[in-house]
Amino acid sequence: MQQFDTIKSQFEEELGKLNSLQDLENLRIKYLGKKGVLKKLLEGISQISKIERKEFGQNINALKKHIETSLKDYKLNFSKEKSFFDITIPGTRIKRGSLHMVTLAINEIIEIFKPLGFIRMSYPEVEWEYFAFDALNMPKDHPARDDFEQFFVKFQPNPEMGKMILSPHTSSGQIREMRRVKKPPIRMINVAKCYRPNWDTTHTPMFHQFEGLCIDKGINITNLKGTINYFVKSFFGPTRKIRLRPYHFQFTEPSFEFDISCNVCGGTGKIENNGHTEKCKVCKSGWLELGGAGMVHPNVLRAGGIDPELYSGWAFGIGIERIFMMKEGLSLDDIRVLYSSNIKFLKQF
Ligand code: DAH
Repeated sequence: MQQFDTIKSQFEEELGKLNSLQDLENLRIKYLGKKGVLKKLLEGISQISKIERKEFGQNINALKKHIETSLKDYKLNFSKEKSFFDITIPGTRIKRGSLHMVTLAINEIIEIFKPLGFIRMSYPEVEWEYFAFDALNMPKDHPARDDFEQFFVKFQPNPEMGKMILSPHTSSGQIREMRRVKKPPIRMINVAKCYRPNWDTTHTPMFHQFEGLCIDKGINITNLKGTINYFVKSFFGPTRKIRLRPYHFQFTEPSFEFDISCNVCGGTGKIENNGHTEKCKVCKSGWLELGGAGMVHPNVLRAGGIDPELYSGWAFGIGIERIFMMKEGLSLDDIRVLYSSNIKFLKQF
């Protein structure tokens, strides 16, 4: 009879050590299975005297019952324990994305111009030829229009507005802003995607520009130069210098291209290499081209409904990817990486 107590306490001990429902099942098989402990006990019944047999049988049954209910209870409690929700366990952190560097650059540009009273505008990227060219003093047959090979949009052309295109520059926003405000002063930064069919290390078919436009009484080139200088120093750092170079655009007169001093050679165009003086490989001349600018052409003011006898203004256009790549400490040699969706690259910003 003692063996029943031994088996019972043995079972209890093993039950206390369980870790999973699989352990529980193994324990059930060990005791109640076809070749289990109880089965073996039962097989020994023939060696037991007839008088004791009844009691022996009852003991086995009692032990079997005990084991069965213990296993059942254990299973119930085990499931309950597992469904308990422990709010103190740290959660799984959801991965956060971040803004694309072109968006970061746009935000920075807007913040730089805000204190000067420039407001951000967004004008259509799918645009009429009229706003993108004709109103900007570029007649249909003007060769300058070839510079912007275009993406045409399948849309019913309009006799006055021409065809629809994906706007190749942000200058089209100039006319729209003049017509919106009607009476100067105007201080606008127009940020938009622009489209031209190019694909190489310095061009993507979609890129961003921002267009500055300032119109008021008595606005002159000094204001233009001062504003660009302020922007360059804020965006690139106080040591960088600018210069204006005479150029030609249809929508400005006079027109300029403006450059920024190269940060690799410090604007000298030369670098020292092992005692030799070499041409700077980045700029070759000490200067890097930043964008185009000029005094708004009287025809453009007229197209915008503004009297050129009363008002004057300046405008500039700058490529955002381009100036982002020129930032101090960034040496990106292929613009296309910005749109590669390469997480390893994007993660750095
Ligand atoms: N729209 C010109 C371009 O995309 C850039 C430009 C030049 C804008 C002169 C201007 C400007 O506002 O005055 O190449």
